[in-house]
Amino acid sequence: MAEIRIRNTNERIQGDSEVGAFLTAQGVLYEHWNINKLESNLQNKFLLSDEEKQQILTTFDDEIRDLAKRNGYLVWDVVALSDATPNIEELLKKFEQVHTHTEDEVRAIAAGHGIFIIKGSDEVGYFDVELGPGDVISVPVNTPHFFTLMEDRQVVAIRLFIETEGWIAHPYSDPQFA
Ligand SMILES: [Fe+2]
Repeated sequence: MAEIRIRNTNERIQGDSEVGAFLTAQGVLYEHWNINKLESNLQNKFLLSDEEKQQILTTFDDEIRDLAKRNGYLVWDVVALSDATPNIEELLKKFEQVHTHTEDEVRAIAAGHGIFIIKGSDEVGYFDVELGPGDVISVPVNTPHFFTLMEDRQVVAIRLFIETEGWIAHPYSDPQFA
């Protein structure tokens, strides 16, 4: 289940309803899918064949289509990142810069962990959302954020897009970000 850390105060928010209420107030969609639908060998595997990626999409086909229908997403895929990923350090450096997109950034965590750092309202400032298996988040269009790995340094995530070109980032320079 997701956890929040507010960077200015170091306050942590735990528990499904508390996390959900906080994210809703910040305009961030959060939901949780039943990860036990996924075959157990895929719940802890970070080097995936195309067939295994397809198996993940097939397993969550109902959930993906429901979310896509609600929010207008048109295409989806599976991304896997771990220390076995070629150029992982370069990729993380690219990811770990505050940026925006002209569409929502949607991730459903299938295995491992990931963390979104998001710019909230003026009162809240930047906050971290720590995500685990089954957590689903949509960072709204034009909201400054970035994504990176957590201590386990491995994640498998389903991504949903509106733009068929996929992930296009616009750098956002913010003196308030620390
Ligand atoms: Fe992004």
